[in-house]
Amino acid sequence: MCGIIGCVGVTNSKQVLLEGLKTLEYRGYDSSGIAIFNKDNVNIVKAVGKLSQLQKKVNNQEMLGSHGIAHTRWATHGKVTEENAHPHIVGSISIVHNGIIENYRKLKTELLKDGVVFKSETDTEVIAHLLNNYYEKEKSLLQAVKKVKSVLQGSFALLVSSVKEPQTLVALKSGPPLLFARSNESYFFSSDSLAFQNYATEFFPLEDGDIIEVKKDKFSLLRDKNKNENKSKNENKNENENEIIDQKNLIWIKVSKDQYSLSKQSYKHFMLKEIFEQPQVSVQAISPYIDQVKMELLLPCKDLQQKIKKTKKIFIIACGTSFYAAMEAKYYIEKAAGVSVEVDTASEFRYRHTPIDQDDLVLLISQSGETADTLSVLRSLKEKEISVISLCNTKSSSIDRLSDFSYYMNAGVEVAVASTKAFVNSLIILNIFSEQIAKIKNKLTTTDEKDFVASMLSLPRLLGEVLDFSIAIKDKVEFLSKHKGFLFMGRGFSFPISMEGALKLKELVYLHAEAYSFGEMKHGPLALIDKNMLVIALVPKDEFYEKSLSNLEEVRSRGASIFGIGSYQDKELARLSTEHFFLPKITESFCWSLNPILASLPMQLLAYYFSDYLGHDVDQPRNLAKSVTVE
Ligand code: M6R
Repeated sequence: MCGIIGCVGVTNSKQVLLEGLKTLEYRGYDSSGIAIFNKDNVNIVKAVGKLSQLQKKVNNQEMLGSHGIAHTRWATHGKVTEENAHPHIVGSISIVHNGIIENYRKLKTELLKDGVVFKSETDTEVIAHLLNNYYEKEKSLLQAVKKVKSVLQGSFALLVSSVKEPQTLVALKSGPPLLFARSNESYFFSSDSLAFQNYATEFFPLEDGDIIEVKKDKFSLLRDKNKNENKSKNENKNENENEIIDQKNLIWIKVSKDQYSLSKQSYKHFMLKEIFEQPQVSVQAISPYIDQVKMELLLPCKDLQQKIKKTKKIFIIACGTSFYAAMEAKYYIEKAAGVSVEVDTASEFRYRHTPIDQDDLVLLISQSGETADTLSVLRSLKEKEISVISLCNTKSSSIDRLSDFSYYMNAGVEVAVASTKAFVNSLIILNIFSEQIAKIKNKLTTTDEKDFVASMLSLPRLLGEVLDFSIAIKDKVEFLSKHKGFLFMGRGFSFPISMEGALKLKELVYLHAEAYSFGEMKHGPLALIDKNMLVIALVPKDEFYEKSLSNLEEVRSRGASIFGIGSYQDKELARLSTEHFFLPKITESFCWSLNPILASLPMQLLAYYFSDYLGHDVDQPRNLAKSVTVE
């Protein structure tokens, strides 16, 4: 987690770094700091709390300089204090760090024995002391960074400067994302391209082991020589094993400005804006995969088609909300294509000893494309030469780059920590993916294909219709707030959406919420039911409808309040529910695949309005960060 940014050769580095930090705040928001270098001076300001606290402090300060580094923190080692906030400064060295140093205790013990006094509780300060020691001997920042690389174990992205080497910034990446960008003679580093989108013209992502030294208007890139020799990431490497890369061989990516990015427009929160963008961004999910003239599904590349033809089993691995999208995909793929699907969270899967056959397909889902557990699964699959498909929102992210086949959510940048539009676009793509598999395996009739395409094309309108009634959810917030616990229930296609609904509520409202399939109710959770418990029941008219209604009767007779979410004007559901919300009228025959997508929106709205009603920080819920780049 944490966001880092650095620049050299810009006219107003304070402004560039603060703007950049704003875009990186989703990566961590408990404290922040900035260091601006001017000749042989450094001016460091840090603040606890949101970035606005740092902004307040620096507003009154003249911080001149064309070179600087900055950081927004999600605490891993040590409490949220100014001492623990970055940049850390030791001797002439200033450093910002994203990641975790696994051997920091051992390194710290050795430094303590040498009489070093620590000011913070962080693993980062250990790096700063080591760099300062090496710098004193080597008199070169680059040599000091090369040396520190050989002793650090763990996962880290570092930006380092020294007041003794003006206009010099050295970066080292081993694990978390770090991008290098330029425009004329200005250079930038950051954890995310959003941070320099207003200043740089092109960038490339650093590879693990890369060191870049920027010195005034020049840079050099050092890359591990033994890159492909299957060395473990944490194995100590001799610092002479780097080679300077010829800059002609670098592939630069054009910086694109995201039309959905950085302004809340007239919305109170990014989350609300992102919920309301869904009709629009769903078009971007659908259109790359559909021929609207022939009303046909477009298929993936020939290589992937061959793999799909052969496969009998698909693994889908992800974390958090992406994991619930994976759960939904299991229902879609097994129904549409009759292929068996196994789903797991990446944090569990990476330590399982799951047998995978060369013909099995593995799909990884990640909005950010940088989630540490998911990335680690990808790396271990690559070692076993198993091909991997990814579904990411962030193009050129680590997971996107390292996978063999890429699908994209195309949801535009998602700023709010709680995922909304990326989830809905994932469901759309996974629905399309399941029908692609069915088509490749000759299990999709031409009539069904046309009906499916028609259903997909109706989605943007239907999503808009759900949002037209958002006020009906807002009006129920007082009713929601009377309850202390929440059980989200659904069967079949609705079950993963219930799980996602419970996660949204936990994440934003900080009250206990759990999801159960209706069929599991009698096996325990029914004992929880009393007047303080609200059952949020997802009961659309699908193949599970009658069974779910019977379960709802059982819940009702035990005194729970019920918030029913179901199909258009369902009188029976309204009778059983204390409060209800109806999805729009669906005439398409593929309503079983549309229902879960549409039902996701009331889940999001419910958590959003409830959180706002309680006065919580909707966009940046406590203890969380958008991109979980540490285990
Ligand atoms: O970027 P990813 O999709 O890999 O992120 C996975 C989870 O960390 C993420 O979905 C998290 O659960 C969200 N905050 C949920 O709203």
